[in-house]
Amino acid sequence: MHPKAGTILRLFHTEDGYISGERLSRELGISRTAVWKHISALRNDGYIIEAVPSRGYRLVSSPDRIDPHEVRALLDGTRIGRRLEYLKLTSSTNVDAFRLAEDGAIEGTVVIADTQTGGKGRRGRVWSSPAGVNLYCSVVLRPAIMPHEAPQLTFLSAVAAARAIELTTRLVPEIKWPNDLLISGKKVAGLLNEMSAETDGINFVILGIGVNLNMTVDQFPGDLRHPATSLMLESGARVDRSRFTGTMLNELDRLYHDFLVHGFGPIRDEWQRRCIANGRDVLVSDSGTECTGGRFVGIDADGAMLLRSEDNILHRITCGDVRII
Ligand code: BTN
Repeated sequence: MHPKAGTILRLFHTEDGYISGERLSRELGISRTAVWKHISALRNDGYIIEAVPSRGYRLVSSPDRIDPHEVRALLDGTRIGRRLEYLKLTSSTNVDAFRLAEDGAIEGTVVIADTQTGGKGRRGRVWSSPAGVNLYCSVVLRPAIMPHEAPQLTFLSAVAAARAIELTTRLVPEIKWPNDLLISGKKVAGLLNEMSAETDGINFVILGIGVNLNMTVDQFPGDLRHPATSLMLESGARVDRSRFTGTMLNELDRLYHDFLVHGFGPIRDEWQRRCIANGRDVLVSDSGTECTGGRFVGIDADGAMLLRSEDNILHRITCGDVRII
């Protein structure tokens, strides 16, 4: 995409109504004929742009694909997305981001793919990644923290994804420890952190984020352990994938900034507010065996779940599946 067309998209995204041809020509420093040529090129790329005499141009809809130029045009942060790699097909964006980070990729590098052939889920599971419908992305972070603090960053991506869902669909997702995002009890997003560390510090963390945006019922694998859904299935409306991606990366940028300045506290508070289990009685099972029960009272600074059992003992749980009683 021509950079001027990218600027036109950015203007469309920052303003809701019509933008006159005269203003576009002034802001871009090109003739009105050149503006019209860029508008035509965008239309050929699948953007629906309305043109009304004496009012100007208005973006009606974007093509249903993640357009890296459009995502870039939407970004308003300082770190996340400074480098953005888009791949039509890959095995796993986490693997790609990990390799880039090992080769020295700057903090904030983002890898996005349209489809993954080996999408990685937690605990060695597969993350179903059909083409043309969802978001699969991985972000490289290089915070100066100790390895045991790295799980805090998963909570950051959970809150960023939850905020983006609210901002783009008005649906209110709930978070289930450690980091599943649910709508009406069904999983809509999953997060997978991976890290490279030494004993005295981390080299980098990869935040892997998968959000089911426009997946249809027949696209979910039949052998899912837990019920799953997509934003489109829950809201009834197709999600603009580029806009969702830009919104989520911007929220991640704000949260990461807060994390660096204020630490984990504010993110933990928001995460706990959004957590489905907050203050409720739960059972935790590991590999199918139920092991601990108690009241969910929060997470600690390392991201471990804190449960208070009936005999008033505080249990610290680091892995397992949570079921609300
Ligand atoms: C889970 O099991 O809930 C975590 C799923 C994480 C999936 C995302 S999709 C983008 C990134 N790349 C991967 O291979 N996995 C993560």
